[in-house]
Amino acid sequence: MYTFAIESSCDETSAAILNNFEVCSNIISSQLFHKDYGGIVPELASRAHIRTIDKIVKASFVEANLSPLDIGLVAATRGPGLIGSLLVGFNFAKGFAVSNNIPFVGINHIESHLVSCFIGKAEIEFPFISLVVSGGHTILFLVSGYKDYIVLGQTQDDAAGEAFDKVAKMLGLEYPGGPLIDKLASIGNENYHKFPGSVIKGRPYDFSFSGIKTSVLYYLRKNFAGDTSKIPLNDLCASFQKAVVGSLVSKTVSAANDYGIKNISVSGGVSANSRLRNEFMKYTSNGYKVFFPEKIYSTDNAAMIGYTAYLKYIHSPAGTFNNELLKRAFARFGS
Ligand code: KG4
Ligand code: ZN
Repeated sequence: MYTFAIESSCDETSAAILNNFEVCSNIISSQLFHKDYGGIVPELASRAHIRTIDKIVKASFVEANLSPLDIGLVAATRGPGLIGSLLVGFNFAKGFAVSNNIPFVGINHIESHLVSCFIGKAEIEFPFISLVVSGGHTILFLVSGYKDYIVLGQTQDDAAGEAFDKVAKMLGLEYPGGPLIDKLASIGNENYHKFPGSVIKGRPYDFSFSGIKTSVLYYLRKNFAGDTSKIPLNDLCASFQKAVVGSLVSKTVSAANDYGIKNISVSGGVSANSRLRNEFMKYTSNGYKVFFPEKIYSTDNAAMIGYTAYLKYIHSPAGTFNNELLKRAFARFGS
């Protein structure tokens, strides 16, 4: 069965088509103009989705060499995300489903990041510990089966990706700062300065990144207030990245130890980070299995939405997925 999916929760407009679990196309358009504002401007993001969505959808069909008549299931991100951005993709997908008489399902964005580790791979054996780490979320899950997720902990303030982006801004780097910090850190001295870890007393699985971010701010003010051109960018990025990654890895591994689980998955935009991947991979020599999505499925993409939708479809009782409710809703408006 072919699943057609749309993702538009933030600043990526993406459309994908999957043949069962196999990705046939996954077109992603990133709104690069947000760089000029140092962060995402929600109103501009929604308008850019409106301008782009039909071209992206068309490209996904061209690349998959399919037509709407081939599609058996339609999915779109229903949240969390920027409401104006979500509405564009969600309503486009709903309209597509109703006009072509295809079942529709709305998908949770965080769940789809969690599931993205499965794409193109042998399935991960349950139970596993999942770290979802993105620009908006940092959550540690215990995953015991499909639809069987328990939140063990999460950030109490900034998400890890948000901390990367804010520190990058302090350093005068463009948005999104995560990939740039990753690149600059690769030739930096990680021991140049020790920034604090993410410790919350008595809450081993919760995260806090605002302290690390603030300590970078104070460090910069104290040492480079007069001349920011003297900031040793590579070393500072490497030291900051070491603090963030250290906390993400140690909390995830200690949750795995506490629950006696050897399988770990790491996904979401920050899972593209080289140090994060390297540090987690070190644990594979201690008997852990660590799973990452391919980098293209780490950051926002519609393939993970389609994959989650199809997973739900095959694990749900027959007849759960139909668009009767949608059709009735449209009928009320006489269309
Ligand atoms: O999952 P995602 O595309 O969007 C959200 O759901 O938030 O994640 C975007 C976040 C941004 O904060 C970006 O800076 C971060 O992921 N990111 C990275 C890297 N690539 C993307 N952070 C660190 N290292 C990277 N290589
Ligand atoms: Zn995301």
